[in-house]
Amino acid sequence: VGSQRSGDDGAGVGVVLEGLRRLEYRGYDSAGIAVVTADGVQTRKKAGKLANLVGELASDPLPAAATAIGHTRWATHGGPTDANAHPHVGTGGRVAVIHNGIVENFAALRADLAEAGVEFTSETDTEVVAHLLARACEGTADLAAAMRSVCTRLEGAFTLLAVHADAPDTIVGARRNSPLVVGLGEGANYLGSDVAAFIASTREALELGQDQVVTITPDSVVVTGFDGSPAQGRRFHVDWDAAAAEKGGFPSFMAKEIHDQPKAIADTLLGRVEESTGRLQLDEMKISEAELRTIDKMIVIACGTAAYAGQVAKYAIEHWCRVPVEVELAHEFRYRDPVVSERTLVVAISQSGETMDTIMAVRHAREQGAKVLAICNTNGSTIPRESDAVLYTHAGPEIAVASTKAFLAQITACYLLGLFLAQLRGNKFSDEVAEVLAQLHEIPGQVQQVLDGLEQVREIARYMADTRSVLFLGRHVGYPVAMEGALKLKELAYIHAEGFAAGELKHGPIALIEPGQPVFVVVPSPRGRDSLHSKVVSNIQEVRARGARTLVIAEEGDTAVEPYADVVIRVPRTSTLLSPLLAVVPLQVFACELAAAKGLDVDQPRNLAKSVTVE
Ligand code: G6P
Repeated sequence: VGSQRSGDDGAGVGVVLEGLRRLEYRGYDSAGIAVVTADGVQTRKKAGKLANLVGELASDPLPAAATAIGHTRWATHGGPTDANAHPHVGTGGRVAVIHNGIVENFAALRADLAEAGVEFTSETDTEVVAHLLARACEGTADLAAAMRSVCTRLEGAFTLLAVHADAPDTIVGARRNSPLVVGLGEGANYLGSDVAAFIASTREALELGQDQVVTITPDSVVVTGFDGSPAQGRRFHVDWDAAAAEKGGFPSFMAKEIHDQPKAIADTLLGRVEESTGRLQLDEMKISEAELRTIDKMIVIACGTAAYAGQVAKYAIEHWCRVPVEVELAHEFRYRDPVVSERTLVVAISQSGETMDTIMAVRHAREQGAKVLAICNTNGSTIPRESDAVLYTHAGPEIAVASTKAFLAQITACYLLGLFLAQLRGNKFSDEVAEVLAQLHEIPGQVQQVLDGLEQVREIARYMADTRSVLFLGRHVGYPVAMEGALKLKELAYIHAEGFAAGELKHGPIALIEPGQPVFVVVPSPRGRDSLHSKVVSNIQEVRARGARTLVIAEEGDTAVEPYADVVIRVPRTSTLLSPLLAVVPLQVFACELAAAKGLDVDQPRNLAKSVTVE
């Protein structure tokens, strides 16, 4: 976060701390802040959560300043210590730098600097940049020029912000691959990894491109390329307000976001169907309809929860469009030799739009000639900008590290895409489009019903706080739901959990079942296809017979599960393909409640970060 305000209202520290508070979900193992005045640069930094830094500032305040930069860290080079926290100060104490990303050639640069007599106070790659910048500034009074020359020496991915005591009304930022957006205020400008950093001050923002340097003062913003050539950012308005990024009376952001889900789905559906033609509308489409008609394969690339959204979507899109859909973790896709052609549509799903693994996979796909469509929740982020087409999810800001409402919005968006393609390609399923759309519009209300009836799940979670292992089973679309349920429990409650395809159980995992082992089972609708339901009911019996404690998620009115279920959690009726949007909700609540019962930080689980901007 960087803040630059006119006059000496001294608000810099407060504005930056507020920004850090809003960005803490991105990384939280240490935090630091620097202010700049004509006298020099001063920093305070502390390992641990932001609260530690706030405590430090209370006992040892910084001078009032109009210019400040601050950082919350997710450690890459060097452990989370006070010394490794950013900002880092260059030799002479007049330059301070904060950094996201990894400078891959830092070891060589550090060796050169050490040889020249520079003394290091941390183990970070960032400190190398601070010293390089301090040296570059010796030859010029122009901080932006110095930043540009330093950037050309750096390899890897980075966002950098720098201040210099000789220019106390200026902050210079640079970005290569890592995110950086500018907030445009009145008599004040801001820099942040995302708009949440400055949302309390302004909703006007400027998106920057790759390899650009930006210089902000209270009343100017100048953008150039690394080579100094003039450049322009894209201006956009943030369509959610500061309150959307607050807890709103819930005990955690996650609890709030789980309850935001009906709205997240409804908003993602909003305005997608053109009234006169019934045609679905995407946000940006640089792929022609002719090209879309010739697509012969789709590949979904994503990480974490977003990849599970892709797994759910595979079932629906293959069914509606009769196009094979592969789902692959972005970091795996990139390192094999995927079979991709001009007729492949790659769908990149990402809440943040900044997951480095997914960005790299997008680039790899485009290099191979594929068209890339992004499904993303963050306007102004990298993945949509680098894609050929974009479909935004409108889940609003997701702050809790473990994804919930973005997941449901991603599935919804994938379904819209599937229906759009089905309509366009005009096969026998195109007739189903209107019907599925009508069912989709029922989902927000049905999710609300699930949420209204979840006291039972909360009670079970509190009761199970000492559990050491939980298994999740599902078949068909219930399989990725089971995996997502397991992921939530791992992330939030640090409990060993696994999601299995129910049919795979007998091929190995059933050996894990011993008396008392809790097993969640996601049961498909008995009104759905063929024998799917009865097969899953058999699987419940198989684990029950071996002593498992069965917690069954089943449709209202499905009595067949009752004899074999220790607990039945009911969800409203919908079609099989849409059922994940309901069935996953009790699993999210279970994980959230259990983690809270264990006294854990639900919003910021250990070791994780919300947007992982390193590979
Ligand atoms: C991180 C987060 C996960 C998230 C994944 C993908 O690993 O901890 O919660 O699902 O990134 O993030 P994205 O922003 O690309 O959806």
